[in-house]
Amino acid sequence: MSKPYVYITRKLSEHVMDTLEKHFSVEVWPYEDKPVDRETLLEKSKKADALLTMLTDQVDQELFDQAENLKVVANLAVGYDNIDLQYAKSRNVTITNTPDVLTDTTADLTFGLLLATARRMKEALQVIPNNEWTTWSPYMLAGADVHHKTIGIVGMGQIGEAVAKRASGFDMKILYHNRSRKKEAEEKMGATYVSFEELLQEADYVVCMTPLTEETKDLFNKEAFQKMKSSAIFINTSRGGVVDEQALEQALVNGEIEACGLDVFKNEPIDQSHPLIKLDQVTAFPHIGSSSVETREKMMELAADNITHVLNGKDPLTPVN
Ligand code: DGY
Repeated sequence: MSKPYVYITRKLSEHVMDTLEKHFSVEVWPYEDKPVDRETLLEKSKKADALLTMLTDQVDQELFDQAENLKVVANLAVGYDNIDLQYAKSRNVTITNTPDVLTDTTADLTFGLLLATARRMKEALQVIPNNEWTTWSPYMLAGADVHHKTIGIVGMGQIGEAVAKRASGFDMKILYHNRSRKKEAEEKMGATYVSFEELLQEADYVVCMTPLTEETKDLFNKEAFQKMKSSAIFINTSRGGVVDEQALEQALVNGEIEACGLDVFKNEPIDQSHPLIKLDQVTAFPHIGSSSVETREKMMELAADNITHVLNGKDPLTPVN
């Protein structure tokens, strides 16, 4: 009997590939820094028993309709807004993600971005290379304190809680908004559950950690930014789709909020022509939330293990549907 066929949409670590190759017939899109083109993805999906996908791949109705053998799609991310879950369910395809293994790494980056934005590190990094450091001066690149301020976390999942843990180390007052109350976070870190509106009004740092869904699309819109303090700093390491980027730009230009730190954008990748990048108050990273070598390898291993489990008739380790 021929081995099940697995298609992987980006070059991954050798040892993950070796593990899969022991059991399956594996083919890989050969590039690390270039997404698979749509035509190839559809073509390979036609005979695939399993796909190991990136968040840059659209796994939609068109793909499922052609992929008659497909049993599992293992997405290399905790987010899965690139996959049509409902349709996958109707086709009996298991979808898995990579939670847990990336929680602390993503929380570290989120808190790092918050610190970088508050303390104007983007501007500071330019001063010496541009030969602009003429003297010490009292207000040179004076930013905002983080310690003892109020953080408002929207979306208190695992990563939200890990951000709260870091915030408690900075003696911050922690507010959160979530679909459900998180009693443990309230008890352990003294986090207080508030309405979305109250959070926007009270927080010095509004941190978006909510996944992108139909309900959260453009959640941070003109009205939301207008409710924030004029000194507020907005941080997003979740998905660009939860933010109305034009409204954010206007809020920054009009001084309705102070600054923002973004790791994610609506249409990635972006470049320097993006209107938000032109603003001094914006600190921007290219979607690197979970990007440490250790964590990315754990994500790859988990995605590969999910495939192995499903193709061997076992329950997936981290299913999302
Ligand atoms: C995720 O896992 O969803 C992240 O955005 C990837 O870094």
